[in-house]
Amino acid sequence: MKVVHTRADFDAARHDVPGPVGLVPTMGALHAGHVELMRMARAATATVVTTIFVNPLQFAPTEDLARYPRTLDADLAACEEQGADIVWVPGVEDIYPRDAADVRIDAGPRGDELEGASRPGHFSGVLTVVAKFFHLTEPDLAFFGQKDYQQFCLIEKMVEDLDFPIVLVAVPTVRDADDLALSSRNRYLTDAERAAARVLPKALFAGRDAAQLLGADAVVRTAASVLKEERSVHVEYLELRGDDLGPVPEHGVGRLLVAARVGTTRLIDNVEVVIA
Ligand code: PAJ
Repeated sequence: MKVVHTRADFDAARHDVPGPVGLVPTMGALHAGHVELMRMARAATATVVTTIFVNPLQFAPTEDLARYPRTLDADLAACEEQGADIVWVPGVEDIYPRDAADVRIDAGPRGDELEGASRPGHFSGVLTVVAKFFHLTEPDLAFFGQKDYQQFCLIEKMVEDLDFPIVLVAVPTVRDADDLALSSRNRYLTDAERAAARVLPKALFAGRDAAQLLGADAVVRTAASVLKEERSVHVEYLELRGDDLGPVPEHGVGRLLVAARVGTTRLIDNVEVVIA
């Protein structure tokens, strides 16, 4: 496994590797969710490139950029264990030389909804860095988690609309034994908050089950009533959408999405919902 930092060193390592090349972009603080992306990439491609870069462009000034967890040694050990071939850990100056981020990708109208409503500019920052990594690493396949469902949909739209010759792979959400979706931010939760946060998957699963028995109308109602059991969980949104985040279909596959604050930590989760 090669660990590289500068653009020049990455280019040298990327030169002449066997294809297909699989890209797993991350912000580090790797957990079993990221590991699953690398495992899928290892199974599907000849060369696995993992990037570790905490992208300042996708954090608002009020958000947790400075306190975002950084665990490089453990991250590299996880990459090694999953058989990554190249791990690129660029500095901010490698990705944004000359502070160059004046021109950015516009995420379109869907970028202002759900996560985008409370995080203006967030998806523009995500798409800009992902587009840059697509250009810089030239993958054949790129792997993203369904945990960040809206992010996946917007990257998929960008790839379609801007003609990136890259196949995207959506990896199902990896959950802990108590069903909480794994997230780098879970480490901020106190024991009590962690226990309370379990209401999120519980509510989503209850909504999903209600869809099959009672139809679309019951989904949000059922999930909301479960969320009310935990007063310390402050819901920001709870929405049922189509699987492309468009309007809910009368029948077929939709997506139930939630964002909530537990203490000072903001968590998101989502599940597939089949409307009978
Ligand atoms: P990060 O939060 O580090 O996540 C990297 C990838 O891991 C994303 O595709 C995310 O959806 C996936 N992931 C996180 N938790 C997961 C889980 N529990 N199960 C399955 N996959 C999971 O998402 C980002 O970084 C950034 O926005 C990035 C795309 C790297 C751009 O900066």
